[in-house]
Order: sequence, then C-alpha cells, then structure tokens
Amino acid sequence: PKTMIEPFRIKSVEPIRMTTRAEREALLAEARLNVFRLRARDVLLDFLTDSGTGAMSAHQWAAMMEGDESYAGAESFFRFEAAVRDLTGYAHVIPTHQGRAAERILFSVAARPGDLVPSNTHFDTTRANLEVAGAEPLDLVIREGLEPRTPHPFKGNIDLERVEALLRTRGDRVPFGMITVTNNSGGGQPVSLENLRAYRALLARHGKPLILDACRFAENAMFVKLREPGQGERAVKEIAREMFSLADGCTMSAKKDALVNIGGFLALRDDRWVEPARNLLILTEGFPTYGGLAGRDLDALAVGLEEILHEDYLRYRLRTAEYMGEKLRQGGVAIVEPTGGHAVYLDARDFLPHLGPADYPAWALVDALYLAGGIRGVEVGSVMFGKRLEDGTETYHPMELVRLAFPRRVYTQSHFDYAAEVVCELKREAASVRGVRFAKQSRYLRHFTAEFEWA
Ligand code: F0G
Repeated sequence: PKTMIEPFRIKSVEPIRMTTRAEREALLAEARLNVFRLRARDVLLDFLTDSGTGAMSAHQWAAMMEGDESYAGAESFFRFEAAVRDLTGYAHVIPTHQGRAAERILFSVAARPGDLVPSNTHFDTTRANLEVAGAEPLDLVIREGLEPRTPHPFKGNIDLERVEALLRTRGDRVPFGMITVTNNSGGGQPVSLENLRAYRALLARHGKPLILDACRFAENAMFVKLREPGQGERAVKEIAREMFSLADGCTMSAKKDALVNIGGFLALRDDRWVEPARNLLILTEGFPTYGGLAGRDLDALAVGLEEILHEDYLRYRLRTAEYMGEKLRQGGVAIVEPTGGHAVYLDARDFLPHLGPADYPAWALVDALYLAGGIRGVEVGSVMFGKRLEDGTETYHPMELVRLAFPRRVYTQSHFDYAAEVVCELKREAASVRGVRFAKQSRYLRHFTAEFEWA
C-alpha cells in the first residue's frame, strides 16, 4: 500500500471543540486580532507551533515515573547527560528550561557588544537574545532560501561566499558562527552535510567555533538521508552524529526534536565557555544537574532523543508536511517549496495580492484562517521580523509567510485534510480579506503581545 499511516496508535485522547464563525469574530476582536492572545480552547486545530506541543509516548510517560527529584546529582541528570553525549559527542551538557535559556546563557558568556554572529537565519528568540547581548545577528542563507518557489533540496544552506567575505573584512568582530537546522524562519528547510562541512572548514580557518541551533536536528538528518547524494543508506542516527561532530557545541530547544513539552540544553565540546555558563545557570536557571527542569523532565527528554531518530516516525513526519503541501498546491495556494520538516509555509503575498507590505498580509492571513476554520497559524513576516525605527517608520521582511506548524504525533490525516480544505476555500474568497495595522507594540518580540486593528 502507498498510504503512509501514522506509525503509532492512540492511548489517550483530548477533545477539541468547534466554534461558530460569529463566536470566532468576537473572540478574535477580544484578542486584538492577535492569535497569541486567544485561549487555546477556542482553537480547533492548533498549528501555532510545533514547540512543546507534541504527544509523549507511553515509554516517555513511564520514564517520568523514574524521575529522581534530588536537588543535586540526580540519576535523571546522568541519564539525560548520557543521552546527549551519545548523540552529540559533546563533553559538557548544561540543562536549561528551554532553548532560549541556552541561547541567553551562551551569548552572555561568548558574545560582546559590537560582535557579529552569522547564521543561515537566526530564529526570533536567538536574534533577540543576541541583540540584548549587544551583538548583531546576520542572516546569510543562500539566495534560493529567500525565494519561496525556487526549487533546491537544501534551502537552509548558508551562503559561504558571504560568510567568507564577512570573516575576511570583519572577522575580528565574529566570536563564533551559528547555523539553524532545519532553518525554521526560512521555511523549515534543511542544511546539507556538504554545506555544514564547508562552513565548519571556513570558520576553522579563521579560528572560529561553530554552534548548531539544533532543535530540529532529526528532521534535518532525515532530509539529508532522503536528498543528499551518497547518504541514502546511512542510519539517520549516524547522519545526526556527523552533524554534531562538525560543530563545537549546540543550543537545543528539546520542545521540538526531543519530543518533550518543556526542556532544552546547551552542550559544548571543549571547556572554553563552560565555567561562566554554569555559573550563570546557577544564578538564573538552577543547579547544573537540573537547570530549571524537574528530574522527570530530564528522563522524558533522554527517551525522546532516542525515539525521534526512529526512521518510520521521521518518514511519516516529513510526509505529513509534503502531503499538506500537495493538497494546498492542488488548491492553487502558493507555499514555500519544497515543503520543510515541521510545517508548511503559505506565501501571503501571493495569497493576498491586493494587500501591500503596510497591510501586514501574513498577519491578516493568520487572522482570516482562524475566522474561516478555527485554525491557528503564525505569522513569519514583517510583524515578527520588521521593526519600528526611532523615527516611527517601519522596516519590512523580505518574505510574508504564514507557518502552519505541526505538533508531533498529535493530529491525524483527517485533521490535515480538513485544514487543507479550509485554506483552499479561503483562497477562493481571498479578495475579501482585509489588512491590519498596529494599535500597540513592544520593542522586542513584538508579535507575541502586539494589538491590531483592521486596516
Ligand atoms: N531556535 C529555533 C530554530 C526555534 O525554532 C526555537 C523555537 C528556538 C530556537 C527557541 O527555543 O522556544 O525552546 O526557547 N521555536 C518555536 C517555534 C517557539 O514556534 O518555532 P524555545
């Protein structure tokens, strides 16, 4: 049979609830046209994020009962540390409550005001944490990575020529290089091993370490297996290990490819930043053997890191996004192609050609999807990545995307069929979708809290 089924069965269920269009109109108005401000119970299919929203396995729940809640030296920590070391090969493993805590700690000890930090595309929290440390994040993804419909197997690759130019002209200001696997903000697109190797070699020639933003490492490794010449016969775990071996450390949001609802870590190969990082951890997160997590969280994480590399799961995972992508394209909806690992990204400029940049088309499309079918997506466009300057003018992002991100092991094929139907029906009445204007915004990460009005 050709049908790719969900490679699990369901042991515990959670009801979801449909609302009427009139109810959603009122709820969205109350939320100031910002779906982050909705109550989750008022959402039917929640594609806001794949972060911390996954379903844990029976094995993970069982491991949680083994959690050792000792303050110092808990067994849970050693199981967690062993799992991270086995995968990454990094000696120093520092647990944090989630990815951004690992970022903040690393940047506090390793970046200084005026530093420049290249990546393919920094995720919004990474960008903001670098900015708070006084450093400037640089997004140097290959040109194809910014062109929604240009085909390329590894649209997450970093542009090595631009990295080289940066290192040659302003290398003294670069403390380390980063790369996000998969490239979330650029469409969940993978980075090839070949690109990683070359990036590492380039950084090494200039004496700079490489840090992976590793939160979707397993999806990236599966793409490598499926798409990169010569990789098809390797175990995904071997590919993942090679990815980590090419870097000097990683920040990790375990809420993605470690299949847990909360957790993260910073892991480092050598000891250069370890001591100040641990001291900062103690100050703000917790003792180094729990780092803001419960012992049971560390156990669930250790099991998740192993489960995520099951290849039948990863095949189904990547197929989910591909399947949604096929249905949307058949309905005339433009998306980022090829589909990425954890989400599909709708091209809002194409969807709403009557709206200009100042109408925030991707934000408007998120609102319209909620009104049309109770689906919650997220804007990845000029609200997330633009800025209000001192003079009151706004900057805009090169792409206006709506991300429908898929929680791991949560929704079934009929949920995806429904979602595709809602998006395709909305496309047919797209001309009626109005733009939005800011009513209120904050300085950092404004998308989470901003208020809007219809234009
Ligand atoms: N790096 C990437 C590439 C991410 O996608 C995220 C989170 C983080 C770092 C930060 O991790 O949330 O655990 O602090 N991304 C989520 C998302 C929020 O919806 O894409 P965190």
